[in-house]
Amino acid sequence: MDIRGPRLRKPSDEALAFTSSMASDGRIARHVIGVNMAHMAALMRAGEVDRAVGAKCMKFLSGTSPEISPGASAEDYHQQLEQDAVDAIGVEAAGYLNYGKSRNDQVATAIRMELRSQVLGLIGAAVALQKALLRQSGRSGTLLVPGYTHLQRAQPVTLAHHYLAYFDALQRDAERGLQLYARVNISPMGSAAMAGTSVRLDRRFVAHLLGFSGIVRNAMDAVSSRDVAVESLSFATMTMLDASRLAEELILWSSAEFGFLELADAYAASSSIMPQKKNAVAAELVRAKAGSVLGDLVAACAILKALPYSYNLDLQEVTPQLWRAMDDATRSLNLLAGMVGSAKFDQSRLRRSITDDNSTAVGLANYLVSNHGLSFRQAHSVVGHLVRTSVESGKPLHEVASRQLAAVTGRLGKKVSIDAATIKALLDPVTFLEGISTEGGSNPRFIPRELKVRERELERTGSALSGLSSALKASERKLHATSGLAREVKPRIEH
Ligand code: ARG
Repeated sequence: MDIRGPRLRKPSDEALAFTSSMASDGRIARHVIGVNMAHMAALMRAGEVDRAVGAKCMKFLSGTSPEISPGASAEDYHQQLEQDAVDAIGVEAAGYLNYGKSRNDQVATAIRMELRSQVLGLIGAAVALQKALLRQSGRSGTLLVPGYTHLQRAQPVTLAHHYLAYFDALQRDAERGLQLYARVNISPMGSAAMAGTSVRLDRRFVAHLLGFSGIVRNAMDAVSSRDVAVESLSFATMTMLDASRLAEELILWSSAEFGFLELADAYAASSSIMPQKKNAVAAELVRAKAGSVLGDLVAACAILKALPYSYNLDLQEVTPQLWRAMDDATRSLNLLAGMVGSAKFDQSRLRRSITDDNSTAVGLANYLVSNHGLSFRQAHSVVGHLVRTSVESGKPLHEVASRQLAAVTGRLGKKVSIDAATIKALLDPVTFLEGISTEGGSNPRFIPRELKVRERELERTGSALSGLSSALKASERKLHATSGLAREVKPRIEH
C-alpha cells in the first residue's frame, strides 16, 4: 500500500527529485526514528493504540537502521520510514504511526534534536580554541608584540593581552551557545500539522522521552518557526567572525613581512611550482568559511522573510544551510585551536619589531603631564615634534628627546629637562607596559591573575557542557533501548 493515498496521481520524477529532502535527511534520520518511538509510546500510554499494535510498531522502529539508501526516492525520510513500516509489518499496525502527528511537528522536533548536539559541538570547539589561547598565553604570554590600530604600529602589548582578547570574545560566544541551547531544547511534538490534535497525547511526556526540557507552547509557532535555526546560524557566524580575524592574523604574522611566528607544517601546504613555499592554507580556509557561514545565515533569513504561517516547504531549504554552517564552524574552530597551540614565535624578530618604532611615545607624553605640568594636548604636541625629528633624521626617539626636549618645551614657555636615562626608560617597552595601571590593560604583571580568572571560566563552561552532553547521551540511550521505553509506557488510561 502506497501511504501517499489516492488523492493525487504520481509526481513527475523531475518534480519529486526537486522537492525531495532525502539527500539531506540522513542527518536527522535516527531522530525521526526516535520521535516515532516516543510518539508511539505516548499513544500506548494514553490507550489510543492497542498495546499489541504498539509493540509491533516499536519492534519495527527499534530494528530499523537510520541509513538512507542512495537510490531511495521519497518526498522525505519521514514518508520513507512510514512506508517501510507499512511494507514490513502491514498497515493494520504501522498505520497508527502517524496517528496524531504530522511531518511538520516531526521535522521541527528532529531538527532540534540534531541541533542540540551541533550546538554543544560548536561550544566545545570554541572551548578548545580558548584552551589553546590560554595555554599559549601561559607559555609565551610575556613576549611583547606590536599592537596595531589601522594596521599601523600603535603600542606594544604582551602576547597574552592579544590572545586573551580573543579568549574573551570566544567566551561570550560560548555563553551565547549555552543560552541558545535552552531555546533549542524544547519539543514541538504534539503540535501535529499546526492546530494540535484530538488524539489524547501528553506532549510533556513525549518531550521528556526525547530529552527535552519542555514544550514549544503554541502548536502553530512550533511548526512554523525556525528562529532557533537562525539563532544557531548567527551563533556560528559570530564564532566564525572571531575565528576568521584570528586566522587572518596567523596568515599575516607568519608572512616574511611580519615574521612573528611559524605555523606547524601540519596546517600548511607547499606549492606545485615554487619549492620554497609554505602556505597557511588551513587558516586561509577558516577565513573563507566565515564567508560561507555568513552566507548560510543570510540564506536562512531570506527564506524565512515574509513566509506566511504555518508550515511551507520553503522551511525544508533552511535545514541544509544549518548543518553546513554548524559543520564548517566547528571544524574551523577545532583546526584553529591546533594552529594556535602549535605555532612557534620568533622571539628575536618580535623584539626587533618593537625596538625604536616610537610606539611608546605616549609614555613620554603622559610623563610630561604628570610630572611637569603640561596639559595632555601640549605634551602630545611636544612629543609629536620629537617623533617627527626622529623619523626625518633616522635617529632613535630617546636620543632626539634627550637633546631637544628642553628646546621644544621652551617654545611653549614651559621649559622641561629630563635626563637621558629617564627618557630611555620611559620609552622602553617593558617599563612602558609596567606603568599601565588600568584594569584589563596590558601590564605583564597582570598576566598570572588574568590567566587564573579565565581558567576558572573555562572550568565553568566545561562543566556546563559536559552536564548537557551527558544528559543528552543518557536520554538517547534510554530512548533507543526498547526496554527503557517500555518501562515508561505503562498505560495510564485503560481501554
Ligand atoms: N521534508 C520536510 C522538511 O524537511 C518535512 C516536512 C514536510 N511536510 C510537509 N507537509 N510536506 O521540512
